[in-house]
Amino acid sequence: MIMGYTFLDQKGTFYLENPENTGALYFPIAGEQGIKGAVTPNLGGDLKTGQNTFILEPVSVENLHNNKSTRNFWCCMEGKGIWSATGASAEEKAAAFTDRQEKSTLEAGIMWHKMTRESKKYQLRSTITSFVPVCDYQVEVMHVEISNTGREAVSFVPAAAVPLYARSADNIRDHRHVTSLLHRIRTLDCGVTVEPTLTFDERGHQKNEITYFVCGTDGKGEKPEGFYSTVDNFIGEGGSFERPEAIVKNLPPMPAGTAIDGYEAMGGLRFHKVVLRPDESKTFIILIGLAGNREDIEAIVSAAGSQKKVMDMLEVTKNYWNQKLNVSYHTEDERFDNFMHWVNFQPMLRRIYGCSFLPHHDYGKGGRGWRDLWQDCLALLIMNPDGVREMLIDNYAGVRIDGSNATIIGSKQGEFIADRNNITRLWMDHGVWPLITTKFYIDQTGDIGVLLIENKYFKDRQTMRGTARDERWQEGDRTILKDKNGNPYSGTILEHLLLQNLTAFYEVGEHNHFRMRGADWNDALDMAEERGESVAFTAAYAGNLETLSQLLTYLKEGGMSKVSVLKEMTVLFADDERLYEDIDAKKKLLAEYGASCRHDVSGEKAELVIEEVIDGLHHKAEWIKKHIRESEWLDQGEEGWFNGYYDNNGRQVEGRFPSGVRMMLTGQVFTIMSGTATEEQIEQITAAADRYLYEEKAGGYRLNTNFNEIKTDLGRMFGFAYGHKENGAVFSHMTTMYANALYKRGFVKEGYKALHTLYRQAMNFDVSKIYPGIPEYFDGAGRGLYHYLTGAASWLMMTVITEMFGVKGQNGNLIFMPKLLEGQFDANNRAEISLTFANCKWHVIYINGERKEFDEYQVKEIRLNGRTVSSTNMAEAFADNVIPLAKIQELDTRMQQEVIVVLN
Ligand code: G1P
Repeated sequence: MIMGYTFLDQKGTFYLENPENTGALYFPIAGEQGIKGAVTPNLGGDLKTGQNTFILEPVSVENLHNNKSTRNFWCCMEGKGIWSATGASAEEKAAAFTDRQEKSTLEAGIMWHKMTRESKKYQLRSTITSFVPVCDYQVEVMHVEISNTGREAVSFVPAAAVPLYARSADNIRDHRHVTSLLHRIRTLDCGVTVEPTLTFDERGHQKNEITYFVCGTDGKGEKPEGFYSTVDNFIGEGGSFERPEAIVKNLPPMPAGTAIDGYEAMGGLRFHKVVLRPDESKTFIILIGLAGNREDIEAIVSAAGSQKKVMDMLEVTKNYWNQKLNVSYHTEDERFDNFMHWVNFQPMLRRIYGCSFLPHHDYGKGGRGWRDLWQDCLALLIMNPDGVREMLIDNYAGVRIDGSNATIIGSKQGEFIADRNNITRLWMDHGVWPLITTKFYIDQTGDIGVLLIENKYFKDRQTMRGTARDERWQEGDRTILKDKNGNPYSGTILEHLLLQNLTAFYEVGEHNHFRMRGADWNDALDMAEERGESVAFTAAYAGNLETLSQLLTYLKEGGMSKVSVLKEMTVLFADDERLYEDIDAKKKLLAEYGASCRHDVSGEKAELVIEEVIDGLHHKAEWIKKHIRESEWLDQGEEGWFNGYYDNNGRQVEGRFPSGVRMMLTGQVFTIMSGTATEEQIEQITAAADRYLYEEKAGGYRLNTNFNEIKTDLGRMFGFAYGHKENGAVFSHMTTMYANALYKRGFVKEGYKALHTLYRQAMNFDVSKIYPGIPEYFDGAGRGLYHYLTGAASWLMMTVITEMFGVKGQNGNLIFMPKLLEGQFDANNRAEISLTFANCKWHVIYINGERKEFDEYQVKEIRLNGRTVSSTNMAEAFADNVIPLAKIQELDTRMQQEVIVVLN
């Protein structure tokens, strides 16, 4: 029977018995220096610093049960058998599903993983802690402790056994053997190194400059006795990693100083024989990693080569990550608070791993896409606001002057790479995300001035929003847009934002909604390039146009009277309802604008009257909303919803069809969030979503109903089995955005339901079969897949903090608008949250003394550090639920600010 995990503290530390009895479990351990690992309950998984530098063999999820090449540690009982301290032995595998199976326990916290396993037969217990220390070295530490649990002395010969892959992931099915011929394998006095002569990968043949290693000492710093440095001499003819000949027969190891060339390498480290009396233990430290030279390896061994040093490193590492996770929650439900701790951590993981490098994420090369880049900033803004301003500004250098953006993102902040394809793919949602993040930044900081900072534009061969090539752009040209005189052209962040949102406004299809192009948020809606339209994201852009109009209103109130933009852009500001209605005129206007900046720009600026710009943006937003309300509302009496898409045959996608009801969540999310849907419509939408999309056993609201058709005129998603990934799974990112939209519009119970079902599903280990946190999606049976690396985490954090707890910035003022349900307050009528805001640490305590429901209570009083804040004792008038920016600026940022918010 599977038992769920139990939390041991308030920092997400949990334990779980026999985790190996659940398939496909993996856990991330990584460091900001770039090394990234995945660890399974039997210490399978892999380890790498990048696509071309895998230390351990790369694994996909199916390899987790299939591969034997795990991190292992053996105890050879000299004639009485062999015991794997990680459970990865033929003997232990044969005990699966029987009562002979060893008892094991996982205890894990942020970036550390500790497995304990006990063998009754051999009277031994192993405790293996795996982590990546916070340091400059690319190394994973495996701290192994073997204890005698019996009544008699036990003797054994210990050996670490970690196969070294030492090459590019590409070589897994591309010259796997030939690339082993590049290996130069050496034994040092503390371990095995592999220094391939060359690397063979997509960059061609290059001289290699990296040394891969497995080194180790015992807990007192004593070196191994000898080594097994190739797979062949370790496993023997006919042997395997689960029953290696060298261990079974206790074969003599090789001495230090042995050189072998051209074989698969093995980090086999045999230590001196150990005799343990009852209750005695012995520790070993195994270091797995890569380095630029031998001195670095020696330095790593000396830094980590003792029990004490490793334990100190582990403490430092735990503290480091706990300090980074500077948001914590306290509600009636402690499990929820702990769950959120893992959710807080997930955006950090995505910064390190990108969207690759965990077993489900067996694609890509560690990069993140444009939309992910911007959305991950949301969480960063909350947890680590230092440097976010620079990051936001730098990212705008990826915008092209036609409003599209670079899609190949470099490794350095603000670095974007030219797209060398003939005609590139354009995702029509990309223009939406930068403004959402920038608006959040401005609200949290009050730094509206960021809009007037200038940055350059991206330039490559793609022009006219990816529909044409700029033949004058040469390979090797810098990726910076120039003016007629050849000077780099810069514009304000505001100009970049206006461009992204206004160019989209004119790129319409035959129903006057924005064209689908390559796809929108849903990457798998990728077969409607010609005639497809995304009503869903047209609505999202309407929300953005309104936001821009509001931001400009703030700038106007601050004294700005003119908006300075590139002269050619002036046409985009046309404010004329007849134009809005006229599809051909819109397309023509956009084509003319595109042609005017196909290769370079004039560099001249036009000064637009701010009121006119504000009105124009507002009119465009209103026009879209009205158009969608009039043309896409599918009224079904008590229920109703918006059609979110047109297919490549120009047909409405949603509604009632002979094959059944077709409803998609995305179109509902953005019509609600943008204010397109009326309150009445939201009621009907939520009724329809409950009826057609909600399924408790799957984990909540599905992305769509079953179309029962492989709709090749819309996207590959319809080829996926129904209930999986983008075809009708409970897709956490979209469900979270649905909750966010509902909370924003005051539909609190409905928003809570969406979030709560997701949380409950994730934490129901028996069904979701994942460690704590939010996965990308739940399949039809409710299993969580693609765990950890998902944009859902950022949105979930933001929604819980700014909507559920309602602690949020508004132009730099701190406001409290809680939408906590009565049941979320603890037995003392409290709900608490700690977070940073405006460079200060805050501890906010809501007190709901009369236990009123969210729609009955209001903020009655705010006490900041024991003193009441109210509009009467401030020069400026402000609402009762606000701590104004001016007041915040007077605070001592070294102190934690305690805020008691009394509700009544
Ligand atoms: C993933 C991608 C994301 C895309 C989504 C839907 O979602 O990373 O860019 O929008 O699939 O196709 P994630 O769970 O990572 O947010």
